[in-house]
Amino acid sequence: MAKLSGPTITLLVLAASGAQMLPQPARASPAQVDRLVQTALQLDRNPARGGRLYAKNCSSCHGPDALGDSVRVIPSLAGQRRAYLIKQLADFTELERESEPMHAALARSGLTQPQDWVDVAAHLNSLPVAAFQETGDGEGVELGEAIFQEQCASCHEEDGRGDDDGFVPSLRNQHYSYLLRQSRSLATWHRHNVEPDLVRFLDSLDIDELTAVADYLSRMRGPTRDRTRLDQDGTAGD
Ligand code: HEC
Ligand code: HEC
Repeated sequence: MAKLSGPTITLLVLAASGAQMLPQPARASPAQVDRLVQTALQLDRNPARGGRLYAKNCSSCHGPDALGDSVRVIPSLAGQRRAYLIKQLADFTELERESEPMHAALARSGLTQPQDWVDVAAHLNSLPVAAFQETGDGEGVELGEAIFQEQCASCHEEDGRGDDDGFVPSLRNQHYSYLLRQSRSLATWHRHNVEPDLVRFLDSLDIDELTAVADYLSRMRGPTRDRTRLDQDGTAGD
């Protein structure tokens, strides 16, 4: 059988999903993502709509409760910071973060507008976190703790919960395999729209050190100690 070309596959996928023909985005720019994210953060959130979009388009990979899958290296999204999630969805949509499965999922579902990201992120942020069994072998945990507290906690906070604005992600309740892979992805510029300093931090660590930090982080479990930013109704917002 002749090899299918990209546009043919796109047409087949769109025909199968009944979606309208969408323009294929070229890689945009960090400034464009920033603009989209700022637009998104001004919008009202509808977590119920987000939950429906998620169940239809995302749960097949990330799971019904958004807990991901360590074997397939699919991240848990439950309880993740809202602004961070919105930025990642904008980055994937604008091809500023590499991941074929995510590019395909967003294009196929047409989930490419700020309102969609806001609603899905509100849903995901509200979900309860869960602990996972998988960790590293435990040999490097002390080294991992020392590195994390010295080099990473200034941004991610001592307990790994992320920053108050919500753009620095929580690293708690995340799969070991995913943490390890992302540490390398960041160090090798597979995520284009990140601070050069972050890339340098991670690139300065060798594989034993990255393994040690991922092992330490994979043991950070449970809800965060506190949520300093509360929404007007008193619930944790990000
Ligand atoms: C085909 C499987 C698949 C589907 C469907 C899918 N994802 Fe993903 N998702 C992944 C994988 C794999 C990654 C990790 C990408 C990487 O390695 O950088 C990911 C990463 C993410 C991230 C980044 C998380 C982080 O901690 O940085 C977000 C957010 C996300 N997905 C949201 C969604 C949403 C919302 C949907 C539904 C529109 C969705 N995903 C559908 C496989 C999938
Ligand atoms: C200067 C602040 C800063 C420092 C220091 C920092 N990070 Fe981060 N980190 C970030 C930000 C911001 C992001 C989100 C990047 C993006 O928007 O894609 C991030 C993302 C990550 C992610 C990806 C999480 C996910 O869900 O995909 C990992 C893993 C990570 N950092 C680990 C580390 C480790 C390990 C260190 C220490 C060696 C470290 N970071 C130091 C700011 C920082």
